[in-house]
Amino acid sequence: MTAIKDIYTLRPDGTHWTVPQDFDVAFNWDYDDGRQSMMHLYRKGVEMQWNAETRIDWSQELDEDNPEQLPEQMLPIAGMATYEKMGRKDKADVRRHFQAWQISQFMQGEQGALICAAKIVTQVPDADSKFYAATQTIDEARHVESYKRLLEKFRVAYPMTPPLQELIDQVLRDSRWDMTYLGMQVVIEGLALAAFQQIRDHAQNPLAAAVNAYVMQDESRHVAFGRLALRDYYPQLTQKERDEREEFLLEACYLMRDRFDAVEVWKNLGLDPAECAAHMYDSGFMQMFRSSLFTRIVPIVKDIGLWGTTITKGYEEMGILGYADTDVQALQDADNDIASEFDARNKYVQSVMDRAANLEPAE
Ligand SMILES: [Fe+2]
Ligand SMILES: [Fe+2]
Repeated sequence: MTAIKDIYTLRPDGTHWTVPQDFDVAFNWDYDDGRQSMMHLYRKGVEMQWNAETRIDWSQELDEDNPEQLPEQMLPIAGMATYEKMGRKDKADVRRHFQAWQISQFMQGEQGALICAAKIVTQVPDADSKFYAATQTIDEARHVESYKRLLEKFRVAYPMTPPLQELIDQVLRDSRWDMTYLGMQVVIEGLALAAFQQIRDHAQNPLAAAVNAYVMQDESRHVAFGRLALRDYYPQLTQKERDEREEFLLEACYLMRDRFDAVEVWKNLGLDPAECAAHMYDSGFMQMFRSSLFTRIVPIVKDIGLWGTTITKGYEEMGILGYADTDVQALQDADNDIASEFDARNKYVQSVMDRAANLEPAE
């Protein structure tokens, strides 16, 4: 069996990372006043549990030349002269490393989500939120497991990229419980959803597409949770307190947009990071892919009531204000339906295999 620690291409700093904590753990003796919508979400979380071991067919393999079988334009340096001159094997190597870097960030980010969900269980004052966050905690453990198993098939892994680590560190150190939601449920999970969607919808590789479809089915509940909890909470704060949140949000969005690039990959493969960055900038890759990553975040921010001038002006400058009118509910419904379609496909493939196994060979 492949161990992740054996396939890290860059060494993470040690095998553990600790973040000091300074907050009160909150008990709640009132068990009866759960909000109906929150208890409904909790019930859904309980009922929709699944087992990564059995729901996903892990005997499926990745492609040798293009592991997830993604369109070439989804590789940020496609079209760059140095890349286009490479032979087939070297190009395959670049694709494998870039895709593995991305799945590594998903896996590492999911561990962040696991820890943040557990932190919410301990810190949030409402009992119904604690119930729900407990279901999310096991969801996130399953996501770490699923991406880990997918990553093993790449035979290469990357550590958590510094900007992601910086944001998670900030979110975990903050003693205000809602900041964990804002950083993790709104920004990181919102970005992750858009990134998962690109793979779910464009990967021709059935294993890579299925893993992302199933994870997304859970993630849409997580985003709904952030919305529910924060929509109730923010109107109770003062304008000054809300302004602080808006500033944090905007900073986090910039951090993820401008510094979350695959510089580790280019450097590791001996490519010139400056040439890669210039290519990505000039080709419009950053503009297109990066801003589309915010489709899931902007409408939520508006919905939870952090929609003052700091945010709206900032989003206008980033060119993402237009996403405010995205129909989040429709996206969430689609995430659910698409996961069911993957289940139907698996069932069909299995039935064909069963029938084929029973066919008598012709005389
Ligand atoms: Fe997750
Ligand atoms: Fe999540």
